[in-house]
Amino acid sequence: MTTIARSFKFLILGTVTATLISVISISLLRLLVSSASNFQCLSQNPISHPRLKVYVAPLRRALNYGLLEHYWSLSLPDSRLPYGSDPDHLTNASYFRRPSFSYPENPVIKQYSAEYWILGDLETSGESRDVRSVAQRVETWEDADVVFVPFFATLSAELELGWGRKGWFGKKRNENMDYVRQMEVIRNVTETDAWKRSGGKDHVFVLTDPVAMWHVRKHIAPAILLVVDFGGWYKIDSKSSKGRNSTLKIEHTQVSLIKDVIIPYTHLLPRLTLAQDRDRDILLYFKGAKRRHRGGLIREKLWEVLENEPDVIMEEGFPDNIGREQSIKGMRSSEFCLHPAGDTPTSCRLFDAISSLCIPVIVSDTIELPFEGMLDYSNFSIFISVDNALEPDWLVNRLRNITKERRQQYRLDLARVQSKFEYGNGNLTGMGPIHPDSAVNYIWMKVYQKLPIIKEAIIREKRKPKGVNIPARCHCT
Ligand SMILES: *[C@@H]1O[C@H](CO)[C@@H](O)[C@H](O)[C@H]1NC(C)=O
Ligand SMILES: *[C@@H]1O[C@H](CO)[C@@H](O)[C@H](O)[C@H]1NC(C)=O
Ligand SMILES: *[C@@H]1O[C@H](CO)[C@@H](O)[C@H](O)[C@H]1NC(C)=O
Ligand SMILES: *[C@@H]1O[C@H](CO)[C@@H](O)[C@H](O)[C@H]1NC(C)=O
Ligand SMILES: *[C@@H]1O[C@H](CO)[C@@H](O)[C@H](O)[C@H]1NC(C)=O
Ligand SMILES: *[C@@H]1O[C@H](CO)[C@@H](O)[C@H](O)[C@H]1NC(C)=O
Repeated sequence: MTTIARSFKFLILGTVTATLISVISISLLRLLVSSASNFQCLSQNPISHPRLKVYVAPLRRALNYGLLEHYWSLSLPDSRLPYGSDPDHLTNASYFRRPSFSYPENPVIKQYSAEYWILGDLETSGESRDVRSVAQRVETWEDADVVFVPFFATLSAELELGWGRKGWFGKKRNENMDYVRQMEVIRNVTETDAWKRSGGKDHVFVLTDPVAMWHVRKHIAPAILLVVDFGGWYKIDSKSSKGRNSTLKIEHTQVSLIKDVIIPYTHLLPRLTLAQDRDRDILLYFKGAKRRHRGGLIREKLWEVLENEPDVIMEEGFPDNIGREQSIKGMRSSEFCLHPAGDTPTSCRLFDAISSLCIPVIVSDTIELPFEGMLDYSNFSIFISVDNALEPDWLVNRLRNITKERRQQYRLDLARVQSKFEYGNGNLTGMGPIHPDSAVNYIWMKVYQKLPIIKEAIIREKRKPKGVNIPARCHCT
């Protein structure tokens, strides 16, 4: 709307100016025609116009690219992976060591690489940027709409989870290096004038892994958080999630669709184009752990409902090389790919399905999805309520009922959105220029859309009398 309004204002201004400098003539007519078609073009592509001024907070390099260098210098593999399957730290020397500025290939970490691509885009100098890039870096915080905090929060957490002392991740202790880094970021950022101006409301943090910045969440709660979903914030214990009421009322006090931005996982499977697409002889495919806690209890029940169907494949697997080949084959030879809730409502499986042109079947009543409002998921995904999915035969009948033509339409629409979930630009350094129709630009577009409400919140906050403490409110969206 803003874009259209702005272009329209521009159009009128342009017209008035033109009237002043020239008599009514052919050239004015031409101008009108060309601004009109320009206007049309802009309104069709909302991403081409907005500019978001972003200041990058100064943080020690050790908190972003330095963490990557540390990662690639480690000699031991990720302790969470089965022996010999950490692709970045193989135990024998005869393998290709990737450059120290690339993001981990380890699938557990790679799925969260958003932080790397977002910073890489901001680090790309002005002249090589695409003119349609929404984020414009500015040199001072006074000039900025938002302040980006360049902490690789996910990588910091992963380093502790995969290489730290077992069981220490949750502890607020100086032996927990992730905790030490989080505290450094908080001290550094919250002491600045930029933070004080807004109470942090215009600061942006990337928290892709649900456990990123685990210990300091209450400090950064006012900020714009870029997250994969609100799973890390659900206060549901496993006991009550067995009942059917657990998801009826979700009281978030730190996250909300109003101020935060849902961003995609990084897909792990290679992209399949429409031209490469072949006949699919399996109806529905799912690979993953059968047992999950919390919201994932429905997985076990779904498994029972589906495992004996002849045209359904349900397989357990791990994200190692063999598992990866299994997934590629499964997702490319199935019409539909099941996406039940896991530990958290979303997972990188959804984005793997999209990049494999496998129509997602989403069974998760409380899921939040990236770029909603700019994309219409019902054009390329099927949403099934948990209750219906658990009814014997219901799900397979519903899917078998979808005609071949309709499936093809879903797939055409999938192909159209694939690029929007793409982070990389093919450059191993992680630097831009990014493609304007890809994930990083859509993320900034979403942040841009939140600006008016953030500015309003900052002004409201300022008028509150000193010492008044207003509790965080539930945002009912
Ligand atoms: C060692 O590296 C080679 C070549 O990359 C690989 O084929 C082999 O499986 C590796 N061995 C172990 C034990 O990881
Ligand atoms: C934050 O870290 C940067 C980079 O080391 C430093 O220049 C700056 O002074 C620090 N700010 C505060 C408030 O500590
Ligand atoms: C679910 O809600 C019903 C009715 O409100 C209540 O009787 C029941 O105890 C609740 N169950 C759980 C697990 O909270
Ligand atoms: C979704 O599909 C409908 C009908 O095919 C179409 O009119 C609409 O433009 C599509 N929406 C998006 C966002 O692609
Ligand atoms: C599938 O189609 C059949 C026959 O048209 C219909 O009876 C059934 O209700 C449909 N099932 C679902 C789940 O839509
Ligand atoms: C990749 O990024 C680096 C660093 O910005 C740049 O020097 C190089 O030209 C880029 N390569 C390609 C193929 O764009």
